[in-house]
Amino acid sequence: MTTQISTGGHFEIGGDLRVARMGFGAMRLPMSRLDGPANDRDTGLKILRRAVELGVDHIDTAAFYYAQDGPAANEMIRAALAPYPDGLVIATKVGPYRGPGEPHPSGTIPASGLRAEVERNLRELGRDHLDLVYLRPGGMETPADESIGERFAVLAALREEGVIRHLGLSHVSAAQLAEAREIAPVAAIQNRFDVTRPQDVELLAVCEREVIAYAPYFPLGGFGIPDDERANAIAARHGATVPQVLLAGLLALSPVMLAIPGTGSPDHLEENLAAADVALTPDDLAELRG
Ligand SMILES: NC(=O)c1ccc[n+]([C@@H]2O[C@H](COP(=O)([O-])OP(=O)(O)OC[C@H]3O[C@@H](n4cnc5c(N)ncnc54)[C@H](OP(=O)(O)O)[C@@H]3O)[C@@H](O)[C@H]2O)c1
Repeated sequence: MTTQISTGGHFEIGGDLRVARMGFGAMRLPMSRLDGPANDRDTGLKILRRAVELGVDHIDTAAFYYAQDGPAANEMIRAALAPYPDGLVIATKVGPYRGPGEPHPSGTIPASGLRAEVERNLRELGRDHLDLVYLRPGGMETPADESIGERFAVLAALREEGVIRHLGLSHVSAAQLAEAREIAPVAAIQNRFDVTRPQDVELLAVCEREVIAYAPYFPLGGFGIPDDERANAIAARHGATVPQVLLAGLLALSPVMLAIPGTGSPDHLEENLAAADVALTPDDLAELRG
């Protein structure tokens, strides 16, 4: 049975890509834990189809999301969803280098290699253009004061050519956002953020002022659901789960906030998407923020 859920309202990425604020992150499809075993590919395909059936129209991926000897996120997205439904926005990111046999990205692709990485995403996803491409300038870490201009300019040129519709930045500082915006418009930010901790205050203020989407990674903590007293209490009051409270809190925090929780579990998918229906009060949100 298809039951359309509430998707927390909508946001127009870059002013023209309309998406439900509750989306889906594909990193956990190949592997649920960063160091874990490969997930089952068929289960992943079912999760993707179910997500779209329930109203998800914004999926975040990357070519370096794959399990060793296991499935890859881009291939699964194409196998499950192509030919793609109208209006499905697929966001990907380039920048990190993951070498053969490496469990995670360990380095950075230089400016000269970014075009090939964009072409790899086009090929793997089976698209003739990409809706949203984030530059994630570093491998695992990016010094906050490092210049990203040379690499961002490569993506800006691809935007001019029509290969990329909108550009984003991931794991960047407010100064790096300002540097990039001198080169081309930035439509979305993807930094690490969960609603229980004050992070990115300055950068989020810029996103709100300039109407730039903020689609954070690790919205559920990244390494297991946090045992947070405040989130536990709010969840009990609302008859909700802690992941639902964390996601509802994220969406309530700012109109530019987009949720892209990842999971390799069909049950967690249903639970997470239903978070858009958890109506937190301003007091709940203040309590959650501490
Ligand atoms: N730009 C970047 O640098 C970067 C970095 C990391 C991720 N990302 C993107 O951001 C997305 C979101 O981040 P994330 O997926 O890493 O988020 P997260 O906050 O770490 O949540 C995912 C983890 O929580 C578990 N989980 C999910 N829903 C759950 C639930 N309802 N109950 C219990 N456990 C649950 C998942 O395992 P199960 O599979 O068991 O549910 C997984 O281990 C990613 O999918 C990816 O697209 C970007």
